[in-house]
Amino acid sequence: MRIGILTAGGDCPGLNAVIRAAGRKLLREGHEPVGLLRGYRGLAHQDHRPLDHAALSGLLPLGGTILSTSSYDPYRHDDGPARIEAAMARGDVDAVIAIGGEHTMDITRRLHERLALPVVGVPKTIDNDIVGTDRTFGFDTAVHVAAEAIDRLHSTAQSHDRVMVVEVMGRNAGWIAVTAAIAGGADGVLVPEVETPVEEIAATIRGRHDRGKDFSIIVVSEGARLCFADGRSEKIVANEETDEYGYERLGGIGAALAAELERETGYETRVVVLGHIQRGGTPTANDRVLATQYGVAAAEAVLAGDLGKMVALQRGEITTIPLSDVVGVKGIDMRLLELAKVFF
Ligand code: F6P
Repeated sequence: MRIGILTAGGDCPGLNAVIRAAGRKLLREGHEPVGLLRGYRGLAHQDHRPLDHAALSGLLPLGGTILSTSSYDPYRHDDGPARIEAAMARGDVDAVIAIGGEHTMDITRRLHERLALPVVGVPKTIDNDIVGTDRTFGFDTAVHVAAEAIDRLHSTAQSHDRVMVVEVMGRNAGWIAVTAAIAGGADGVLVPEVETPVEEIAATIRGRHDRGKDFSIIVVSEGARLCFADGRSEKIVANEETDEYGYERLGGIGAALAAELERETGYETRVVVLGHIQRGGTPTANDRVLATQYGVAAAEAVLAGDLGKMVALQRGEITTIPLSDVVGVKGIDMRLLELAKVFF
């Protein structure tokens, strides 16, 4: 069989490890893996590259994706579904392994249900918010980067008696924020799943000062809302507003929170937005292992005809679940938030 492998949506540490694992497993079983470039665009526009042993070598520690990625959605192009059908009719590939996030899994489900595309999904995102799997690869690396940043910020915050607000990614889920807060020993965390008033964080910071701790590290997830004790609450999204000169306001929730905390406490406050640093570079060992497990499982599922599924990790076991079960956003485990709070 000729099996197309694609990466879609944002890049994520471990993508190349999945490509390597799925590709090498397929080669070993006597099949022909082929790379579809820039997500489903590669399938629709016959943009392929061979994935032979040489192409699949040296990929394990490599960040990004050798197949490039895009958010191309065939259903947002008039000729998209027809192009996918034509590719299948021509026999460009016999099946597809689609590595992507929630949106890609949704596209993949529709292509399977409506066009009978023989496909298996692999859950990818640093956000760890895909329903049906306990873990997505890339998450461990993002948390590692964020925790290391928090470690580094401790010494500079302490030296200047400052409050440091660290804004982390995660879209509408607080997995990176709460996990990095625990790993980095942060003094407060704000996540999208729970509204935490600015006054509560300010009280924690003041309490630390009363105990002789003149610095604090507060982690905020980019999707958290800015909330106040009187019930006011606002979703702050970077790049959505323009300032008085017409420039895009680059600061997101981190900048807004830092300004409010400085006003509320009187302590000098700075903001650090970690941004895409959390997504770039080499995956951690844990992500390499999970990516390898997912890649091999996806190849096995395709070869077994276990189609229309997504590979998943559930209670330590690698399994497959129907793509139709992958709906919505997986919010954080609240026990992690309670754990983080023990140390605030
Ligand atoms: O979903 C992964 C992610 O990195 C989110 O954490 C973040 O909100 C988003 O992608 C950023 O997307 P972009 O790279 O398009 O700015």
